[in-house]
Amino acid sequence: MKQDGFFDLLVRQVRGDLADLPSALRRRVSDEGRVERCGNIAELRALARRRIPGVVFDYVDGGAWDELTAARNQADLRRLAVLPHALTGASDIDLSTSLLGQPVTVPLMGAPTGMTGIVHHDGEVALARAVHGAGGLHVLSSVGSRTVEEVAGASPGPMWLQLYVSRDRGYVRELLGRARRAGYLALVVTVDVQRAGARERDRRNRFSLPPRVSARALAQGVVRPRWSMDFIRRPRFLSEGARQARAVDSGAGQPSLTSIINSQFDPGLTWSDIGWVQEQWEGPVVLKGVLRAEDAQQAARLGVRGVIVSNHGGRQLDHAPSSISALPAVADAVGSEIEVYMDGGIRRGVDILKAVALGARACLSGRALVYGLGAGGEAGAIRAVNLLIEELRLAMTLAGCRSLSELDPSWVTEVPQDERSEAWNS
Ligand SMILES: Cc1cc2nc3c(=O)[nH]c(=O)nc-3n(C[C@H](O)[C@H](O)[C@H](O)COP(=O)(O)O)c2cc1C
Repeated sequence: MKQDGFFDLLVRQVRGDLADLPSALRRRVSDEGRVERCGNIAELRALARRRIPGVVFDYVDGGAWDELTAARNQADLRRLAVLPHALTGASDIDLSTSLLGQPVTVPLMGAPTGMTGIVHHDGEVALARAVHGAGGLHVLSSVGSRTVEEVAGASPGPMWLQLYVSRDRGYVRELLGRARRAGYLALVVTVDVQRAGARERDRRNRFSLPPRVSARALAQGVVRPRWSMDFIRRPRFLSEGARQARAVDSGAGQPSLTSIINSQFDPGLTWSDIGWVQEQWEGPVVLKGVLRAEDAQQAARLGVRGVIVSNHGGRQLDHAPSSISALPAVADAVGSEIEVYMDGGIRRGVDILKAVALGARACLSGRALVYGLGAGGEAGAIRAVNLLIEELRLAMTLAGCRSLSELDPSWVTEVPQDERSEAWNS
């Protein structure tokens, strides 16, 4: 009798498992299932590496020259220790803040990342939706795979537009007019791309737009059939950036990213051009790519409303300092006058805590979110954002910090380098 009971139970369980098998299997191989099994950004990166061709992965993951600055961004964050306060009763954590007057529930912005349509056809739309879903603000790249109108329409959350000042000022004027009409709240002018940084992985891979169909690329595509089918059916690598690409006379056919940047972006930008941009935009302007306190002070004097302490994720001037090491001096110099943000090397939520403690109002994340996109489209981007926010919330709780406004430099301290401080994702 007892054995029958056990046997019945077993049969019912096996039957139930078999009935659920198709949906469990489907879920296991779905984007949602795959990214759910990634427990941190490093695992999303590893999954993205398996799912997108090496040439595309290298475009996202790479830095300039020796990739020293890219590695330093992460290593210097890891060298900072968090000093917890005991018994603060930190059960409810408030991550809300405001960005140029716009309330957000998390101190996270999607960094502008160009041409993400080659990673996944949803590209910037997926990134914006992921960031908005978590209560953050997205900064759209001016060389996106989608137009400013498309992204604003598909993800109606707070958006800023990033601008590379093109030599063609008529184009800039037209783009700003369209962005204003589409509801973008602020303009982020990137000031660290006078010329293209020397990204040696892209040079070795002969990375071009549209991607070259070489024997190597074909081989990489064959072993990544989902990416290849997606790319063939819905090729979306350039849209807002298409004008720049078309204007390049590459002779050889497909322009490289370097040739687009070097022929279209204005290498001679000065402070007076910032004045021109402010006049055209008629709204708040933020500078991205500031590493010196005196540059931030100059920006504040000119009425710029914020600066992003950034070295472009180590993709431009290699051998520049890490963003986190440059942040305190900038925040000390202008933190009470204008808003200061930071990007570069954010791979754990606790990194955001450290940056806020050293004077950033919020952080931008570039690669972490694009790894998510490569790992599983919009589901992957959502997973990346959620991981960063969950980790930040846990770090705040364990540090005994109830709200971002409590953070100041006393919460972090530099510790000697140990082997685990090195970048983990080499
Ligand atoms: C694939 C990729 C594309 C990027 N495109 C742009 C861009 O179009 N405009 C820009 O200002 N910065 C661009 N960046 C730099 C990011 O905005 C940001 O500064 C950098 O990624 C931060 O470092 P992290 O990747 O370590 O988070 C790009 C970065 C990556 C990884």
